[in-house]
Parts: sequence; structure tokens; C-alpha cells
Amino acid sequence: MEVVICSSYEDMSRLAAKAVADVVRRKPNAVIGLATGSSPLGLYAELIRMHKEEGMDFSRVKTFNLDEYVGLAGDHEQSYRRFMNKNLFEGINIDIANTHVPDGLARDYARFCREYEEKIKAAGGVDVQVLGIGTDGHVGFNEPGDSLASRTHTVTLNEQTIKDNARFFEKESDVPLFACTMGVGTVLEARKCVLVANGKKKAKAVAAMIEGPISSMCTASALQMHNDTSVFLDEDAARDLKLADYYRWIQKHKPKAPK
Ligand code: F6R
Repeated sequence: MEVVICSSYEDMSRLAAKAVADVVRRKPNAVIGLATGSSPLGLYAELIRMHKEEGMDFSRVKTFNLDEYVGLAGDHEQSYRRFMNKNLFEGINIDIANTHVPDGLARDYARFCREYEEKIKAAGGVDVQVLGIGTDGHVGFNEPGDSLASRTHTVTLNEQTIKDNARFFEKESDVPLFACTMGVGTVLEARKCVLVANGKKKAKAVAAMIEGPISSMCTASALQMHNDTSVFLDEDAARDLKLADYYRWIQKHKPKAPK
């Protein structure tokens, strides 16, 4: 796992966006996996800036989002479809027909989940997956205890996640109890993963993900088994890392490292 400790949220967002943009530059019809939440907002703003100021082209890009709340229609204020339209898709030249967010109102989730996996496969698989991490170490909505081999499935959100996400809703009881998420197994098949985390609230989960045992108690720790994952952190999120100085040392010497 590559660990990049950044001086600020802005720096973190810029470097993570560059990692995503590099994939799109190399492969203009790339498939991007996307996350919602506060962490990638700066990354998405930077991709929009690259499109507007540098002509970054998304016209052939396809996207698949990690997750959606069960019970929310795509036009609901807090749906992840709405989040993506507002915070990324409306700012770039992507064909909205090429964007996929799990359906919050599927009638038959077993079937929906199978078809979501098939669509990802038919698109050629995810070239670069954007990720955040929950304070409980979840990746996507794969909560502690979930299988590290899981595919797209529905989950019961735990109390911690409901509390954490209540900030987006009027009251805690408005947060849906269920979600549909790509599985950890789905995420691990992405060719590259780019994870962003900021703030001291994430420090414990970040340390467990990078330096803890691989365990379903922190589903993001499964990324230790992925061979091309870059984690972009601000100083606060990195503060519990035992090997922080070594990660800084690696980045300092990266330009001279053998290719
Ligand atoms: C969202 C997702 C979640 C979030 C995580 C962190 O699509 O998959 O795993 O990345 O809950 O959320 P924020 O960034 O709001 O702290």
C-alpha cells in the first residue's frame, strides 16, 4: 500500500485527483469507481477544475458508485445519485447514461446486485476505484464483521455509521437503516484504488486499515491484499500511524526510486 501524508485537505485532494486523472489520461474510456461522503468532495472539485481549465475529457468515461441507501429515490436530497450529480457529474462532460449508482428502490435486490456486478464486468472492470473510510473502518458500506470476499449486497448499517451520517439528515432517525453496497471482493478487483481520509476522527480506522491485522473488524484492511492501492491522508488522519516517518521517507525519495 502506498501511503501519502499530505500537508492539508487541499493537498490531499489535489494529489488523489491527479492519481485518478492519470488513469483517465492513459485510458480515455476508463471505468471509474466512485464514493460519496465528505472525504472525496475536494477530489471531485479538482476533477471539475481539470475539466474546465485543462480540458480533461470524461466523454468516454464510465462510472460505478460504491453504494446507495435503500429506500431513497435518486432525486431524494440525500441520495447518493443526487450527491454525484451535484458534486461531480454536472461539472464534467460525462454522459449521464454512462454513470451507475445502485438503485435505492430496487424491487428485487438479489437480482439487482447480481446485475450490478455483471454490468461492471461487461464494462471491462473498474480501472480506478475512489474510496473513503468510515470511522468504524468500513469501505463502501461493508461494516465490521462483513465478509472480505463479499460481492454487491445489501447491508444493515450499524449504529456508528448511522450516527456519523446523521449530519447529512434532519434527524438521526431519518438515516436509512439499510444500504446496497459493492462488496469488499468487488472493490479488490479494481485495478487501482485511491483512498482519501482526513481529520482526526479517521485516525484510528486509518491505522487499523494500514497497519492492523487483515480482519473483517476493519473491512478496509482487506486493501492490504490489493497490489495497487494509494492512500492519501492529511496529517490528522495519519497521526496514529506507527510508520508515518517511513511513509514520508518513501515519498521523499520516490522521484529517484527505480521504475
Ligand atoms: C460512501 C462510502 C463510505 C464513505 C465513508 C466515509 O460512498 O462508501 O464508505 O466513504 O463512510 O464517509 P465520509 O467521507 O463522509 O467521512
